[in-house]
Amino acid sequence: MAKSKSKYVCQKCGYETVKWLGKCPDCNSFNTFSEEAIVVKSKVTRGVGIQSSIKPMVLGEIKPINEDRATTGMAELDRVLGGGLVEGSLTLIGGDPGIGKSTLLLQICSELGKQGKKVLYVSGEESPHQIKLRADRLEVYSENIMILSETNISIIDSSIANINPDFVIIDSIQTMFVEEITSAPGSVTQVRETTAKLMNISKGRGVSVMIVGHVTKDGNIAGPRVLEHMVDTVLYFEGDKTATYRILRAVKNRFGGTNEIGVFEMGNLGLKEIQNPSAFMLADRPIDVSGTVITCSVEGTRPLLIEAQALVSYTSFNMPRRMATGTDFNRMTIIIAVLEKKAGLQLSSYDCYINLTGGIRVVEPAIDASLAIAIASSYRNVPVPSDVLVFGEIGLTGELRAVTMAEKRVQEAKKMGFKTVIIPNANYKEVKDIKGINIVCAKSVEQLLERAL
Ligand code: TYD
Ligand code: MG
Repeated sequence: MAKSKSKYVCQKCGYETVKWLGKCPDCNSFNTFSEEAIVVKSKVTRGVGIQSSIKPMVLGEIKPINEDRATTGMAELDRVLGGGLVEGSLTLIGGDPGIGKSTLLLQICSELGKQGKKVLYVSGEESPHQIKLRADRLEVYSENIMILSETNISIIDSSIANINPDFVIIDSIQTMFVEEITSAPGSVTQVRETTAKLMNISKGRGVSVMIVGHVTKDGNIAGPRVLEHMVDTVLYFEGDKTATYRILRAVKNRFGGTNEIGVFEMGNLGLKEIQNPSAFMLADRPIDVSGTVITCSVEGTRPLLIEAQALVSYTSFNMPRRMATGTDFNRMTIIIAVLEKKAGLQLSSYDCYINLTGGIRVVEPAIDASLAIAIASSYRNVPVPSDVLVFGEIGLTGELRAVTMAEKRVQEAKKMGFKTVIIPNANYKEVKDIKGINIVCAKSVEQLLERAL
């Protein structure tokens, strides 16, 4: 048996050392080391994942396993997962506290229960009575859902062995612990070991496990990278807690594409899917005012209309203020520089704020054109007609560059009742056959502003 000593672990990236350090040499953050006991070697989970076969196998001879997928009963969630929940997979759902993770999972339980699947909901945060209260509220009743309030992974393991469920939900990983390790639940070592145990349970017994992970203040799931590389799928629940809609985004998926999003609305009866997010995003947009224009972003395979807003106001300070909400700050400063140099806007004596409404975050270059127009519209105080939609990437020489999936974007604009789209010249070929919408092309920022304002 190894001697029981302590080590110091960076709580941000998992870097380990034998002595305390003020600054982590790996992730460069300060004051993140805390003392943790070294795990007694003989009891540590050995390796992660499927038991290794003794001999290497010829790739061509390996029989494909059936990727059985269970529908979660929520089309939005199935889409994010790449067509349903793969049996025997390990999924992590991250998000701020209170965003709706437990609600979503209980709703999934309900759907799976209705399909006759046996579900075990393990909560380390709430008592069975609290879960019952929420279930009543969400109108979840099923013989197939079992609730367990427990945080000790070995006890959970034996419950799983007894009940033999098809799905297990762990709410949340930060409350779970492995007895052999003395560090507190939620520490990197505990999170890593408990996830490794869950991985063995999931792969060994072929049960699908969904793990809830809280996000820390700086936007990472505690013990971030350690966790993300161990699981099959990582989903993030985003959204402004003050707004009612929530976006579920896949950031890693071994069984499907990433960057697919699902859109939900939080209501009295829990989360409801939003079938037409474009309509939802544009619901209360201002009409006939300057500084706003609509653009279309493609998230995964799905077009989404978004309102870009800008406020440009005169400042007497030497350093004008710049602020970007919902998009990349550096892109905004580049667009401002291009507007100054190529379109003659004197923005150096103006504060400039931009915002994508609804709390959504998009960093796709295709929204560049809308940011430029919103800024110019506010600067000149001229509104853009409300039935105009724009997209296109802006290059450093002021050219308007082609974007991917132009046809999808134009179709979405047409579907949502827009009369005119302004697009990069180079995208015209793809969309020229679309009838019922006026297609205007521009090849530079200058032309773009001319056409839109
Ligand atoms: P919850 O699922 O407990 O969040 P998490 O598990 O991510 O911490 O969601 C809690 C919030 O959702 C809480 O603020 C109340 C709200 N809520 C509703 O608005 N409607 C509902 O039907 C439910 C169950 C919760
Ligand atoms: Mg919760």
